[in-house]
Amino acid sequence: MPATVQSFFHADTCTWSHVVHDPATRAAAIVDPVLDFDPARGRISVESARDILVHVRKHGLRVEWILETHAHADHLTAADWLQRILAETGAPPKIAIGAGILDVQRHFREVFGFGPDFAADGSQFDHLFTDEEHFLLGALDMRVLATPGHTSDGVSYLIGDAVFVGDTLFAPQSGTGRCDFPGADAAMQYRSIQRLYALPDATRVFLCHDYPAVDAQPQAQTTIGAEKAGNAQLNATTTEADYVFLRIRRDAILAAPRLLYPSLQVNICAGKLPAADASGRIFLRLPVFLDG
Ligand SMILES: [Fe+2]
Repeated sequence: MPATVQSFFHADTCTWSHVVHDPATRAAAIVDPVLDFDPARGRISVESARDILVHVRKHGLRVEWILETHAHADHLTAADWLQRILAETGAPPKIAIGAGILDVQRHFREVFGFGPDFAADGSQFDHLFTDEEHFLLGALDMRVLATPGHTSDGVSYLIGDAVFVGDTLFAPQSGTGRCDFPGADAAMQYRSIQRLYALPDATRVFLCHDYPAVDAQPQAQTTIGAEKAGNAQLNATTTEADYVFLRIRRDAILAAPRLLYPSLQVNICAGKLPAADASGRIFLRLPVFLDG
């Protein structure tokens, strides 16, 4: 029986989150959940994550995992909040990410000035996946494919016939994820996508982002066959050299994500917010670089 997937679009950051479950056993995983964050007002809220929770409860799902495809740079993860809420009524799901998170943590520990007390060992997460790790979600086989390139910690999760690809691939007409963050590498991204393209054409591909035109509906999923046939930046016949050239040229004109710094300082901690000060207030850090 195929995996059942429900997708949730976070319009403010154009992010897709997904809940995947085994219909036979109700074992479930949440992929890339999002916190609502208004940086101008300094407000974090959980409306979007609550929608996921409503779905989980409505269908009687037993969430075993909260899976991050990578340390996102454009939204704050709701993993920690969901784990704590779900722990109130059952065993807490494990928050997991690729083992490459250590490189990301080492880099951003310096950027944020967290100092040597910050553990850049992935211990903020419950599990770090290595390439080709397998486990079961109920009766469904889950296979982890390391797919770095957009970031050094990128992983894709193949669960039954559904693969959750993070920012390796966008919808065919939109191409692929950028490769200009620290640790990113367009050639690595090319090779990661070749691994995905080796999956059967009918494999359902669940996206992490979509940026629809005004009045268009966002697209949550496609297939490996559709990506190979028509991805605007990397189809089945694109060479590595052509892709790297195109990707570098494209990345050179992309703006930094609006929530880059808030996102990364929270996401490298599995969604845990900084400790409150003596008056109960929480502060995020914003590094500032002076020109000249
Ligand atoms: Fe990303």
